[in-house]
Amino acid sequence: MQLSDFGKKLTSRSGILQLMDDIGRPLPASLKTYPLGGGNPARVKETEALYRREMERILSTDDEFENIISHYDAPQGRTKFIEAVASFFRKEYGWNITEENIAVTNGSQSAMFYLLNLFSGTAEGRKKTILFPLMPEYIGYADQGIEEDTFRSVAAKCTYYPDRTMKYSLDKEAVEKYLCEHDEVGAIALSRPTNPSGNVLTDDEINMLSSLAHMHSIPLIIDNAYGLPFPDIIFTDNAAPIWNEDIVLSMSLSKIGLPAIRTGIIIARKEIATALSNLNAIAALASCTMGQVLSERLIASGELVKAAKEYVRPFYKAKAEKAESCIRKYFEGTEYYIHKIEGSIFLWLYLPSLKIPTLEFYSLLMDKGVVTVPGEYFFFGSESKPYPHEHYDKCLRLNYSGPDDLTDEGIRLISQLYRKYS
Ligand SMILES: Cc1ncc(COP(=O)(O)O)c(C=O)c1O
Repeated sequence: MQLSDFGKKLTSRSGILQLMDDIGRPLPASLKTYPLGGGNPARVKETEALYRREMERILSTDDEFENIISHYDAPQGRTKFIEAVASFFRKEYGWNITEENIAVTNGSQSAMFYLLNLFSGTAEGRKKTILFPLMPEYIGYADQGIEEDTFRSVAAKCTYYPDRTMKYSLDKEAVEKYLCEHDEVGAIALSRPTNPSGNVLTDDEINMLSSLAHMHSIPLIIDNAYGLPFPDIIFTDNAAPIWNEDIVLSMSLSKIGLPAIRTGIIIARKEIATALSNLNAIAALASCTMGQVLSERLIASGELVKAAKEYVRPFYKAKAEKAESCIRKYFEGTEYYIHKIEGSIFLWLYLPSLKIPTLEFYSLLMDKGVVTVPGEYFFFGSESKPYPHEHYDKCLRLNYSGPDDLTDEGIRLISQLYRKYS
C-alpha cells in the first residue's frame, strides 16, 4: 500500500499510540498489573450520579432519547448546549462571548489536532509553526502536525527545592526572543495544568503569554483539559479561569467523568470558532451529541462546576497526596525529585541517577506489570536531538488516579528497579 505523506506521518508509531495501546491492550493474564500509565481518569461517584440522573430523566421523558440519538447536530455543536455554555461563562466570569464564540468537537484531542493544523504548516509559501513555550508538554500533541517539522518549543526552566520537589517555569526571555526572531510562528500552545508535569502556569505567566500573543497577532491556545472551572483538578491558588480575544480555550468533559463520550468545547474568537466548525463538518460531520445532552443542564445550573469543586478536586487531591507519600516512603535514600503536584492527574518523577534511558526503564517496568509513560515522549519541538533538557530521558509520568493499593505497589516496584539501575 502506498500512503501519502499525510498517511505516513499520521500512521507511524507515535508515543500517543503506544500510550493508548498500553491502556487498551491487556498484559498477560498471569501478570498482575499496576496501571500508572495512560490518561484514564478515575470514577468519581458523585459526578456519575449526576449523569445517571440526567440519563434517567431523558429516558423517562416521552421520546426524548429517540430524538437525541436520531439526529446529527450542526457541525458547531448542539444549539442548546452552546447556549448553555456561552451563558454560563458570560454570567459567571463576565466573558464577552456569544454562541458564535463556541465550537464543540469529538473530544479536545480532536480540537487540538484541528487547531494546531489551522495555525501551522504551509501558508502563502511559508512554513508556519506552533511554539510550545514550556517543554515538557503533552505527548498527545507531539505527532499532531500534518506537515513535518512544524512544532517548536522552549525548554522549561526548573527550580529545585530542599524537600525533593521541583517546579517548571517559563523561560520568559527565551520565549520573547524566539517570537521576535521567528515571525513564522502561527500560534503559541500549552496545556494548563500541564500534562505531564502537573505544573500550573501562574496567572502572571499566562498574562505575559497572552500579551505576547497579542503583540505578535497570533492566538494563545490553552488546553484546559484538567483546568478551571471544570474539572477543576488544580490545587494551587494562583490560577484563575481566563479568556480573551487572543486566547483559544480548549475544554473537555473527559476528566469530569465522560472520557468515553467524546466532548471537547472550544471558546475562541468568532472566526476561529467558525473555522473549527467548518473543519469539523468536513472531518466528522458533527460531534457526539450525548455528552452535550448529559451535561447541558448541569452546566446551566452550575451543578457541574459545583461537583468539580466539591468532589472532583478533593478526590484527586487526596490521590495526589497518597501517591506523593508513597514516593517519599519508597524512594527514601535515593536521588529523586517530584514535580510540585499543582494539578492534572499525573505525578512527574525525575530520577537523576538513572543509568539507562527511561524508554528502557519503562520496558523493564512493563515486564513487572508496572505501566508508566517514559519521559522522552514529552520532549519535542527541537532541532537538536536528543532534546536539550537534562530531564529528557530521566523522567517518568505516573497516573495516580488508579486504585490506591496498586499505585502504592507500583511505586514500590519502580523504586526497587531504580535502586538497581542507579
Ligand atoms: C492535556 C490533554 N489535552 C487533551 C487531552 C484529550 O482529552 P479528550 O480528547 O478526552 O478531551 C488529554 C487527555 O488525556 C490531555 O491530557
